[in-house]
Amino acid sequence: MSSTPGNLNNATGKIVGVGRALGGLVVTNHDLEKALDTNDAWIVERTGIKERRFAAEDEDCATLAIDASKEALAHAGLEGEAVDLILCATSTAPEAMPSVACLVGEAIGAVGVGALDVTAACAGYSYAANVAGSMLKSGAARRVLLIGADAMTKIVDQKDRSTAVLFSDAAGAVILEHGSGESGFVDHILGADGRGAPLLRAGHPGAHEKLYQNGREVFKFAARVFPEMVEKLLARNGVKPEKVQYIIPHQANTRIIQAAVRRMEIPEEKIVVNMDRFGNTSAASIPISYPDIFDDFEPGKYVVTVGFGGGLTWAANLYRI
Ligand code: ACO
Repeated sequence: MSSTPGNLNNATGKIVGVGRALGGLVVTNHDLEKALDTNDAWIVERTGIKERRFAAEDEDCATLAIDASKEALAHAGLEGEAVDLILCATSTAPEAMPSVACLVGEAIGAVGVGALDVTAACAGYSYAANVAGSMLKSGAARRVLLIGADAMTKIVDQKDRSTAVLFSDAAGAVILEHGSGESGFVDHILGADGRGAPLLRAGHPGAHEKLYQNGREVFKFAARVFPEMVEKLLARNGVKPEKVQYIIPHQANTRIIQAAVRRMEIPEEKIVVNMDRFGNTSAASIPISYPDIFDDFEPGKYVVTVGFGGGLTWAANLYRI
């Protein structure tokens, strides 16, 4: 695992606004039973998912990213022109170009500022948060719109029961502000191992090749890197587990969370879960959690965000509230 320890006196990237947009169609496990050889009991037992959101016909990754961004700006009480960098973590941009970040910039009126997509599958948000934190820390950006957005139904074969029951569509957005000291990112971890590429791959939206996942192998990888990253971030920054208010992991499977909890000294209640309601929304799965917990943040405590996914990729962030 890469990167060096953070500096507790030099946090930056305070969250000042959060927003999310969920696919417009609510799809329960019972709905899927009608079209696939599957059943509610299998899905709940193996994954923890009860229902999920699919994009409506007029929605895609970019429309969800735009809607989430507008909500985050409104929550922060800001106009789009107040943002000077747009980062969108996604693997399902509707087109190879323009990037989703450029489409968001146009839609919110942030024209002429830096805008780029970050692609690291389900670890994408944690990767992009690292880029955002580093840009803020260096002074290259003062206020960042950071988005995680994916329309996974565009790259999943809806007739393949091994993947169709897992993935869904959403976007989450946060506004991060430059500042030093109290609140913001303290430390990050980034990692990737391209030897694992065959375990999880998919074509672009519209491509013939749909998503393939070797579930068992990816499960073992995820259950290993999740607790490893949390333990490493806390240990090297001298943060005791009781100072952690929330751990927000990528939402792939409740059994991965249970396996990780068994290894860590962190009670399960501190782990934020939304996959029961929203399924696996890939790069959106972490930021769509914020609207549910933001108002409960306790200043001085910590949030750890943990991503893992195709690539193979993994990344985590230590954030002081
Ligand atoms: N309904 C009913 N039965 C099913 C279904 C279904 N939807 N899907 C598979 N099965 C069957 C299989 O055919 C198999 O049957 P068999 O024993 O007769 O061959 C049986 O259930 C077990 O299948 P497994 O694939 O071994 O099931 P497993 O317990 O491993 O669960 C799952 C599969 C949920 C995918 C799990 O492996 C997992 O969560 N893996 C990790 C996912 C992850 O973390 N991904 C990373 C992020 S995603 C990203 O980056 C895009």
